[in-house]
Amino acid sequence: MSDREPVASAETSEAQIAVHWKEEALIHPSPRFIAQANLADPSVYERFALDNFPECFKEYADLLSWDRYWHTTLDTSDAPCWKWFVGGRINACYNCVDRHLPKYKNKAAILFVPEPEDEPLVALTYRELYVRVNEFAALLRDFAGLKAGDRVTLHMPMTPELPITMLACARLGIIHSEVFGGFSGQSCAGRIADSGSTVLITVDGYHRNGAMIDHKVNADIAVEAAGELGQSVDKVLIWQRYPGKSVSKTPLVKGRDYIVNDLLKDFAGRRVDPVSMPAEDPLFLMYTSGTTGKPKGCQHSIGGYMAYVAGTSKYIQDIHPEDVYWCMADIGWITGHSYIVYGPLALAASSVIYEGVPVYPDAGRPWRIAERLDVNIFHTAPTTIRMLRKAGPDEPAKYDYHFKHMTTVGEPIEPEVWKWYYEVVGKGEAVIVDTWWQTENGGFLCSTVPALTPMKPGSTGPGVPGIHPVIYDDDGNEIETGSGIAGNICIRNPWPGSFQTIWKDRQRYVDTYYAKYCKDPKSKDWRDWPYLAGDGATQAADGYYRILGRIDDVINVAGHRLGTKELESAALMVEEIAEAAVVPVADEIKGRTPDIYVSLKPGFEANKETEAKVVKAIEGTIGKIARPKHVYIVPDMPKTRSGKIMRRVLAAISNTLDIGDVTTLANPDVVEEIRVLVQGKEKVATKEAPEDLKRFGEEG
Ligand code: WTA
Repeated sequence: MSDREPVASAETSEAQIAVHWKEEALIHPSPRFIAQANLADPSVYERFALDNFPECFKEYADLLSWDRYWHTTLDTSDAPCWKWFVGGRINACYNCVDRHLPKYKNKAAILFVPEPEDEPLVALTYRELYVRVNEFAALLRDFAGLKAGDRVTLHMPMTPELPITMLACARLGIIHSEVFGGFSGQSCAGRIADSGSTVLITVDGYHRNGAMIDHKVNADIAVEAAGELGQSVDKVLIWQRYPGKSVSKTPLVKGRDYIVNDLLKDFAGRRVDPVSMPAEDPLFLMYTSGTTGKPKGCQHSIGGYMAYVAGTSKYIQDIHPEDVYWCMADIGWITGHSYIVYGPLALAASSVIYEGVPVYPDAGRPWRIAERLDVNIFHTAPTTIRMLRKAGPDEPAKYDYHFKHMTTVGEPIEPEVWKWYYEVVGKGEAVIVDTWWQTENGGFLCSTVPALTPMKPGSTGPGVPGIHPVIYDDDGNEIETGSGIAGNICIRNPWPGSFQTIWKDRQRYVDTYYAKYCKDPKSKDWRDWPYLAGDGATQAADGYYRILGRIDDVINVAGHRLGTKELESAALMVEEIAEAAVVPVADEIKGRTPDIYVSLKPGFEANKETEAKVVKAIEGTIGKIARPKHVYIVPDMPKTRSGKIMRRVLAAISNTLDIGDVTTLANPDVVEEIRVLVQGKEKVATKEAPEDLKRFGEEG
């Protein structure tokens, strides 16, 4: 692994890499779906051809209500920091709430399903959402003293207060930075400090897998740790899960902690005008893992982002205002921002928010919710599909719900799992879109257009309208279209949903995403700046892409990105640990999970306690999602003569792959010792493996 980003190496020279599943036959959408679809006109691909770029995206921007129309669709003068719809003024909250009132004020905007099944569901109409967003915006402005351009960190779980908070920020032009509720207080602190937030918004607690989680305790950890990083937080605003009753045992800190529900009494009935914002100002930050220890704050714009999520929600998700739409992702990730909150609400849909875990109290839960609410669009990740299939393969048939459309996102989906999703969950009635994209992108990059392009299990599809992918080899040569040869997938053109930069780190933005294939660093022409996604991919003869996985040191665990360096730094905080190396290991449900190898400082002995300390350090620093599958205490790390840890060798051992030639290592004998420790004495047969596992840590 090199210290510089990107560390991309797809070994494309090796060419014609065997892919891990075969090409599947195409499946066509039903005439019934096509008849009602928002987009069934094949001329869309022509309208969004490169010849019509960038003006084609006016179609998406016109789905929004603008305070002032823009004069320049795309300004490339600060390449590769693209500015969309320049001169335009707009408010994201107005577009998701106010503008729907004349027609839809009595329609459910948010349908909140609490995890305890005996607790009634909450339907917030657009009118109610309007009232609550206004009152909270007044509080943010007049009590917390926040204004346009300020950053606020949110550390909130899946309750309606999260979109209310986001929309209230958007109403005032405040930049929100939501940290996934499952992340630890410590990781929240890093994001508070990086974004420069002086206010933290959180909740006292929430239900998760049958337990009440005390979440307020994380705020105390976060504020203290942020202070150590030089960022002081002067107000912590705490929503109560049950207004008037605290579910957290953690005491309030006087003069710092405030219960939102108490404060709101002073703001009852208040209205706050939406602030008319320049289109290219930031709407939010979303932190994601990279190849170095420090997460990157992806900065998303107001106008471009809103146009892109509205357009893709309408045409790829096929959302109509009458639809009941349920995306089971967490709002703490980009999928939730784009496809639970901003996209669906911009289109006046009813968006379902479920508080808990999918299989609580049993594997029939999602289908009972779908039946009860008459959900007709369903959106989730392969991990969840695998989990639901394992826990209750026959459950969906027991419930009377009917989906017209389903989405899979976040990881490659095995054709076998895809088929269960299609036949059992979708009852053969629903189209499926396999959408490939990233936190950085704002919205979908590749997917079929559900009424136009047939589905192919295991393949994401072509670029969505207006997105023009290309696959390069490591030397920057274009891999022949449709050749099935693996390489690094890039996008030729900018698009409105793309992030604008990494918060306060333009250089890292340029280095990570553009430096590798930039044709001329001085150029102001977008054609010279292909976007490097960081995934390996192939393109079949029919133009469909198959995503092979990350080409960097990022592990995709259950559809969530974890930087191996983040886990390693956490482990190194344990006193006994001298060195740490994290590798991805294939997992039946989660796709990949991390294995961690550690070596001890002299004088320490390997034991279970040390292993437990490593797990605790990782959970405390990042969160439970980063919990390693195994902690292996090894006598020494396999190293090159220059002292670099050979993660490739460790990944091969964890996945029982061919270890390859290790004779050039400084300490070749340790490899067999580690192999025996992990696999036992008996040599295990080498398995066929997905590309990302074979390639992991190739740079040594
Ligand atoms: C992976 C999630 C295969 C990919 C929206 C990408 C996928 C990373 C797919 C981004 C898909 C996402 N098929 N792989 N349909 N969708 N990925 O930032 O490796 O959490 O780079 O965004 O997930 O993860 P992120």
